[in-house]
Amino acid sequence: MSTDGGNKKEPLYYGDYLQIGKLLDAQHLESSKIGATAHDEMLFIIVHQAYELWFKQILWEMDAVKRLFSGPVMEEKALGKGVAHLERIVEIQRLFSTQIDILETMTPLDFLDFRDALFPASGFQSAQWRLIENTFGLRPQDRYQYNKTKYSARLSASDRDRVEEVEQSESIFDLVQEWLERTPFIRLGDFDFWSEYGNAVDVMLGHDRTLIDGNPLLSDQEKIDQLENLKKTTDHFAALFDVDAYAKLIADGSHRLSHRALKAALLIHLYRDEPILHTPFRFLKSLVDMDENFSAWRYRHALMVARMIGTKIGTGGSSGHEYLLRAAEHNKVFSDLTNLSTFFIPRSVLPALPANIARQMGFRFSPDDSDS
Ligand code: HEM
Repeated sequence: MSTDGGNKKEPLYYGDYLQIGKLLDAQHLESSKIGATAHDEMLFIIVHQAYELWFKQILWEMDAVKRLFSGPVMEEKALGKGVAHLERIVEIQRLFSTQIDILETMTPLDFLDFRDALFPASGFQSAQWRLIENTFGLRPQDRYQYNKTKYSARLSASDRDRVEEVEQSESIFDLVQEWLERTPFIRLGDFDFWSEYGNAVDVMLGHDRTLIDGNPLLSDQEKIDQLENLKKTTDHFAALFDVDAYAKLIADGSHRLSHRALKAALLIHLYRDEPILHTPFRFLKSLVDMDENFSAWRYRHALMVARMIGTKIGTGGSSGHEYLLRAAEHNKVFSDLTNLSTFFIPRSVLPALPANIARQMGFRFSPDDSDS
């Protein structure tokens, strides 16, 4: 018996469901339009389209993560889902460099057969790429700018509106920061994690100093140099314990994550062997993986561009390879999490958590649970 009120649905046909007709009718070679079909332009188009499809999937996963984090309460189960979304993105990113390998079967001379026909179009105008950057949390001030041109300047008006709207809305970075700020994990009852951790840091730095002082292989000058480096590390740690000093690091751009969020992230990493902290740890680790994979793709793309066009300018009007290399260095979102290892201390000096504290770490947390 029919369950659809008598309306019999046509059997689904593969080609209709996937709109294969539309998909396969979307490769129109510019070189053919001027009567000089360049064989490799088909590959160029298909590789770009494949990227754009994967960009769409990445945005789909990112939006799901944003929804999970938007509520006032984050359940452990939801965090597990968040990890799954991020890990999927990380797997997709692995495809990115392989696709460049395929594109590099096209030689620079083959590319020149149709490059002029592309002006002024460029990957610069990939609206989905900009949406990914903004959804992840890349701020305008963190971008490397070419010729003081805003990254969105080359987009069509409708793409620019979409991209700038996302630039203004809460990013994954913002939501993760808020979540970290409200985790109750930094409230550990009578156990003063922060001062215990400070003592452990002193022990570790004292140990490093003894190693330098007692190293018979170092000349006097080398010892002075190494002690100077150790002082820099000590100063960096000191800023971690001094809210005002840390605020200066945020103001000068060397840190972005709030002090409170950084402390929570540090605690999650240091005590990640506690089962309850394992999912938060995997979540933070996936964010670092993603940031690193985006950078790796940027470098790989820049290398390919050097190989394809040398030092020529890009079709989008930038300095080409040089611009892309600088963007790879600058355009990062979760550097604070990547660099968190600066503040790690060996497990051997890590203060042990009292058993009752470990039990107090519930699976559910909300803003109401947080410290005032
Ligand atoms: C022969 C292959 C390629 C060449 C020579 C090339 C060249 C360039 C150049 C020179 C730029 C800088 C902007 C400009 O002045 O045009 C750029 C940007 C960009 N390209 Fe490519 N590209 C190639 C393939 C790809 C592919 C397959 C993708 C995948 C979608 C891609 C995505 C992008 C993106 C997203 C940007 C903006 C990067 C940013 O501003 O941070 N490119 N490309």
